[in-house]
Amino acid sequence: MSNQGKPLQDATAVDKARNVLTTTADIAVTNARATVAARRARRGGRAPSGADLTAYDPLDPAVIADPYPAYRRLLDGGPVAYNPRRDLYVVSHYEAVRAAARADGALSSAQGITRTRVNLPLLITTDRPDHTRLRRLALPAFTRPSLQRWHPVIDGLAADLVADLAAAPGADAVSRLAVPMPVRIIAHILGVPPEDQDDFRRWSDGIIEGFQLELGRDLPARFARTVTALLRLNGYLQRQIRSGRLMDGVLGDLHGTNEEGGITGEELFWFAVLLLVAGNETTTNLLSTMLLTLSRDPEQYELLRERPELVPSAIEEQLRYSSPIQGFYRTAVADHQIGPATIPAGSRVLLLFGAANRDPRQFPDPDAFDVQRDAAGHLAFGSGIHLCLGAHLARAEGQAVLRELIDRVSRVEVTGPYAWNTNSALRGLSRLPVTLTS
Ligand code: HEM
Repeated sequence: MSNQGKPLQDATAVDKARNVLTTTADIAVTNARATVAARRARRGGRAPSGADLTAYDPLDPAVIADPYPAYRRLLDGGPVAYNPRRDLYVVSHYEAVRAAARADGALSSAQGITRTRVNLPLLITTDRPDHTRLRRLALPAFTRPSLQRWHPVIDGLAADLVADLAAAPGADAVSRLAVPMPVRIIAHILGVPPEDQDDFRRWSDGIIEGFQLELGRDLPARFARTVTALLRLNGYLQRQIRSGRLMDGVLGDLHGTNEEGGITGEELFWFAVLLLVAGNETTTNLLSTMLLTLSRDPEQYELLRERPELVPSAIEEQLRYSSPIQGFYRTAVADHQIGPATIPAGSRVLLLFGAANRDPRQFPDPDAFDVQRDAAGHLAFGSGIHLCLGAHLARAEGQAVLRELIDRVSRVEVTGPYAWNTNSALRGLSRLPVTLTS
């Protein structure tokens, strides 16, 4: 069969993985040096043209634990603030964040979208024109009609996981429901059989760890774990594709395109990596924070039980209210104007989706969770050319779990101490003991 003819190019992908991580280490060091130099240069404390000076620090553990007080201060100021200590421009107002996400010609994703500059061959970190070609190839598999074929699996898994959680009062909803739901769905749509899914989750965790690169003494160990995970995933995908076993899923569709000369084996490998990285923890965060919100707001939960037709808008409101990705970075390729501020070429710029979604100019009474609100237009999935490819999939998963909950469960209660994860970009819970009352 023609799809089996062209395995992934092992050596190239492996070399690439090593190169990428070495380059990343170099960039991290260069970054640190640049920050020190910038700090020295700005010791006079002058605000760069048009931006408010701010002490807002996305890496401060107190901010990560509860970013909203800091967001309110940013939203009270101008659309762009500058933190000299981090040498970072921060965009927080809704209109400005949306415009910045759409200004992909001026604000590039190619040096990475998380804190550390990384140079990865992923769709999400590719600028035009390459981005246009890759996105065009991937898009058909992720449209709402294409995703219809996965709905029975999504609904079935939601029913199983909610029943499992309901049967274990006080169990951790993160490990029992929020983690397994997206990983099993992604594995399924990629065509990975259930017996390989634990490995799959491990590689995914290892790879994600490498994407949270921040300088520290354990950096070499983290690099090593990421390279190992990348190599294992690459080896696995090759074996599966050679034996024709991935052909029922999305990678099979894309590999078909490969045969027509559209996508290279290496691009296919990195696409699988991107789906793992982009689709797992984000959806886990949506599900875990949704349970917390519902437990804190029994009236809204009751309203949903009375009016199940509100489920889709409740998911949009949850995404607005607690955005799984709080912010992503860009790099200015030339001096760039946002409102009164000029961002100098080469600067790192943080687009705070989480703050924009709480901007009272766009969403009245933004700190209230209201399932009847029209939250359409929220920026939890970004905006512009990088608008989330998996948005329909994530929505389908969130809606399936919520429908299952309101069908079976009269009350969601948090029954023990819960914990937020400590990542500066991805906001969600690492532990949430709950009791679901039937
Ligand atoms: C609630 C869950 C999710 C949230 C909040 C989310 C959020 C986002 C955001 C904000 C972006 C834009 C990045 C940028 O502008 O730099 C993005 C891009 C992306 N997401 Fe998601 N995502 C979620 C789930 C998923 C899932 C389930 C998948 C796939 C299985 C996925 C795949 C992607 C891909 C491939 C991109 C890159 C698109 C491009 O660069 O053209 N996401 N996501």
